[in-house]
Amino acid sequence: MAASTESRHGMWSSRWLFVLAAAGSAVGLGNIWKFPYITGENGGGAFVLIYLACVAFVGLPIMMAEVLLGREGRQSPINTMRTLAQRYNRNPLWVLIGWMGVLAGFLILSYYVVIAGWALYYVSEMANGAFYQASPETASATFSRFQADPLQMILWQTLFMAATVFIISKGVIKGLERAIRWFMPLLFLLLLLLLGYAFTTESFAEGAQFMFAFNWEDVTSRTVLIAMGQAFFTLSLGMGAIMAYGAYLPASASIGSTVFFIAGLDTLVAVAAGLAIFPIVFANGLEPSQGPGLMFVTLPLAFGQMPLGALFGTLFFVLVSFAAITSAISISEPALAYLVEEYNAKRGRVAISLGVIAWILGIGTVLSFNVWADVHIVGSLTFFDFVDYVSQNVMLPLGGMLISLFAAWGLPRTVIGEQLGIQSGWVNVIWKLLCGVIAPLGVLIVFISTILS
Ligand code: PFF
Repeated sequence: MAASTESRHGMWSSRWLFVLAAAGSAVGLGNIWKFPYITGENGGGAFVLIYLACVAFVGLPIMMAEVLLGREGRQSPINTMRTLAQRYNRNPLWVLIGWMGVLAGFLILSYYVVIAGWALYYVSEMANGAFYQASPETASATFSRFQADPLQMILWQTLFMAATVFIISKGVIKGLERAIRWFMPLLFLLLLLLLGYAFTTESFAEGAQFMFAFNWEDVTSRTVLIAMGQAFFTLSLGMGAIMAYGAYLPASASIGSTVFFIAGLDTLVAVAAGLAIFPIVFANGLEPSQGPGLMFVTLPLAFGQMPLGALFGTLFFVLVSFAAITSAISISEPALAYLVEEYNAKRGRVAISLGVIAWILGIGTVLSFNVWADVHIVGSLTFFDFVDYVSQNVMLPLGGMLISLFAAWGLPRTVIGEQLGIQSGWVNVIWKLLCGVIAPLGVLIVFISTILS
């Protein structure tokens, strides 16, 4: 059976649109909210360097593999894996990659929407001028008060989920282009503004030192696992989101350069967010390891001090919410596309059902910060910690490892050459080395060393 050149869900009108959509998926809360706070929790420099190494040696090859498989299969990840396994006479169990991705997507979406709701709440606080000349104590107290109020959190979670469901029910391709074209450059500008502010604090050097000074003592196998999980999460890898988007990529677009651009941009945003946040942490005597509230306690302080801060602060949290919604859309796409294919269902109906399930699961995350703060699922992990840990540090890397193995060893050489646009023995060897050996072996070594320790 020949590979099809179009997907039934539509096609990106150009390579550029795919870049926008994939960058919209990659750049999100993972860069601006999560990267700084887990860097703070894991001691800084060593963590950052391991993360960067994981992006380069594991993330890049696996992102190429996802795009390649998606474009070869042209369907939802589940059906893409099923079709490719059939077409090339491989074990039908490869389809499990798609199923695990859908499950990981639900888990991630459930808490992602809660945190995005926090960003929405901060839009309203900023617009009310709540942080004008605020002290670190006021900023911390505002966040703690919000966290202690489950109903308030559920309200913002619901609003964000409703917006996500509305957009995904319309179809990804139409909605994304306009949004991303505008908000991405604006988000960069505001990050630059924050960086500029951080530079004027006397603690910029201390913040930069924290982020880049490599300290071997900080490295444990757990640090490495979390850094690797973060590389997967931030690049949207391991659960089929990029595979789903790759299915709508025109056949002529080059995969290699596209993927480099997206990963580079994503890394830049994360590093910029860290460099903006840590100087503010040190200048105000805050704790870098304070956890998920880090961004919400530090950045309002910066906006509170700058001229037109309420305006910039409002705009910033609007943009963070936008960045979050373009990611949330991609998290839903694998499940959504599958249900539409399998049951010929209307996108709108499927979107509402998915949204409701993820919303209910998300209540667990809301309660983890207040009513259930002392309920531990395993060890010291709250419900949120557990869902986050399992999805990001286990399911995404495992999914990514299997995806890269299939892309390297499951497809005939000619198909790989065709997809990469170069029919040469060397390309095939390099592909097998990167995707078939280095990337999966990297994941395996990290898994084994974590289990052993
Ligand atoms: N990459 C997104 C972020 O950094 O916020 C989160 C994400 C999107 C994770 C899509 C997984 C995914 F499939």
